[in-house]
Amino acid sequence: MTTSSVPKKSNDSFRDKDKPTQVRLSNIIAAKAVADAVRTSLGPRGMDKMIETGKKEVVVSNDGATILKNMSVMHPAARMPRSLLNSNVNSLITNKLVDLSAAQDVEAGDGTTSVVVIAGSLLAAAEKLLNKGIHPTQIAEGFQHAAIEAVKALEDISIPISLDQRESLLKSASTSLNSKIVSQYSATLSPIAVDSVLQVTDLDTDNNVDISDIRIVKKLGGTIEDTQLISGLLLNQNVVTSAGGPSRIEKAKIGLIQFQLSPPKPDMENQIVVNDYRQMDRILKEERNYLLNLVKKIKKAGCNVLLIQKSILRDAVNTLSLHFLSKLKIMVIKDIERDEIEHICKSTGCKPIADIESFSEDKLGYADLIEEYESNGSRIVQISGIKTTSRTASVLVRGANNLILDEAERSLHDALCVIRCLVKKRALIPGGGAPEIHIARHLMDKAKTQKGFQGICFHAFAEALEIIPTTLAENSGLNPIAIVTELRNMHAKGHLHSGINVRKGRISDILKENVVQPLLVSTSSIELATETVRMLLKIDDIVQSR
Ligand SMILES: Nc1ncnc2c1ncn2[C@@H]1O[C@H](COP(=O)(O)OP(=O)(O)OP(=O)(O)O)[C@@H](O)[C@H]1O
Ligand SMILES: [Mg+2]
Repeated sequence: MTTSSVPKKSNDSFRDKDKPTQVRLSNIIAAKAVADAVRTSLGPRGMDKMIETGKKEVVVSNDGATILKNMSVMHPAARMPRSLLNSNVNSLITNKLVDLSAAQDVEAGDGTTSVVVIAGSLLAAAEKLLNKGIHPTQIAEGFQHAAIEAVKALEDISIPISLDQRESLLKSASTSLNSKIVSQYSATLSPIAVDSVLQVTDLDTDNNVDISDIRIVKKLGGTIEDTQLISGLLLNQNVVTSAGGPSRIEKAKIGLIQFQLSPPKPDMENQIVVNDYRQMDRILKEERNYLLNLVKKIKKAGCNVLLIQKSILRDAVNTLSLHFLSKLKIMVIKDIERDEIEHICKSTGCKPIADIESFSEDKLGYADLIEEYESNGSRIVQISGIKTTSRTASVLVRGANNLILDEAERSLHDALCVIRCLVKKRALIPGGGAPEIHIARHLMDKAKTQKGFQGICFHAFAEALEIIPTTLAENSGLNPIAIVTELRNMHAKGHLHSGINVRKGRISDILKENVVQPLLVSTSSIELATETVRMLLKIDDIVQSR
């Protein structure tokens, strides 16, 4: 019975059993560190992050998905002590959380910070349960049931709305915008978000909105207050007027071509040797005829506005073709990006034309007016009076510099997504930590009736969700313990709409403060966060393949 002959430390089987726990715990530490990094930007009083991207560009943002996306390319070990874990694990986990935030961005568009904060908190709770000796599978299962219950609890307190309740839509768009850098302009941006989504939606039949139908065009100059919803289509590009072509066309017939009006470039290795002037003349004449022929065919089809897709192989136009086009009074806009084609076609009713032979009138789009005008130092091309039945919208975002312009676009995207959530699922819930406290209370009640580990898991899940009100309070400079306790009390007394009023620094009826958010944003963040936590818990080894 001597144990001393087998020293425990060199016992391999013992170490093997220990490894999964080590892997799990180091995953959890890494994930918590990432969640902590974005935690400070939650809520209207949250901080913003300044990020230097790989290309040495600076991004200032409050949007969780944007912060995390840029974080993933940073050196991971920079953010936490190297000794805690190896950096490969760290970057794997960061990527998982970036994916989580991106998934929330696709599903709901807003709540991309909350989802990561909740995931971090759930992982911290799981760590405690693991330390108590509960098996990871049981924790994963317990959390899954808790998440289902949580979603039910949220549905119970949700307020059904219909899309003609404009006030409610405006309030939810403002709530989303209020936590952004551009919050002081929410009075301008909220109606734009609501109107543009309603413009592209058929309220009776649609259950979803394609956000890409709403085109956001950023132009430097002015302030965000000058941002407006434009009836018609805006283009990022400018009119080419170097050869004196028109910059305003009434009764426009728009052709969108995917070929170029310039002579083909010879391959790098090919050489053309010209010996005398006669040969040179011939080449020039050929080029002239070739281009003239193209332009004439375009004119013959009735086209008077030509949009040219960008190509990396050839110039869209050269001086000669521009000259012909301007003589025939055809407006030219070049460098149309490939991913814009679909939207332009949908908006104007034109069809992309791949070669000159298929250039015919039936492929042209029609608009009453296309003009380029100047506003606050930027040239803007607007197509108005479009005759198509398809629904699209364009928003012109203005701002004094590129940093604010980009953030305004991201914030507007969140607000658009909030309205899209309401089209998908027409219900609102109060914000300001109220939903999380309600879920926590509901789950703690449920925990009492559960048997075995499930009850413990429910309890841990409930506590973990309180991270949202706690963080909202912390970020607003309030005492989190006092505030969350008071919030719990108010909910226990049946005031289910009590939430943290971050402006006045106390608990109040958050519905009266007009802080409402779509049900879908919260349910999706709980579901997605739980899914990621379950996945991380089930990882017991990390194998690197080359
Ligand atoms: N005026 C307000 N008072 C109290 N809480 C608010 C207010 N406005 C928003 N909130 C709360 O702030 C949280 C949302 O914060 P925030 O918009 O910064 O993060 P997110 O929506 O999770 O992520 P992101 O907007 O970056 O995608 C929600 O819990 C919401 O209820
Ligand atoms: Mg938000």
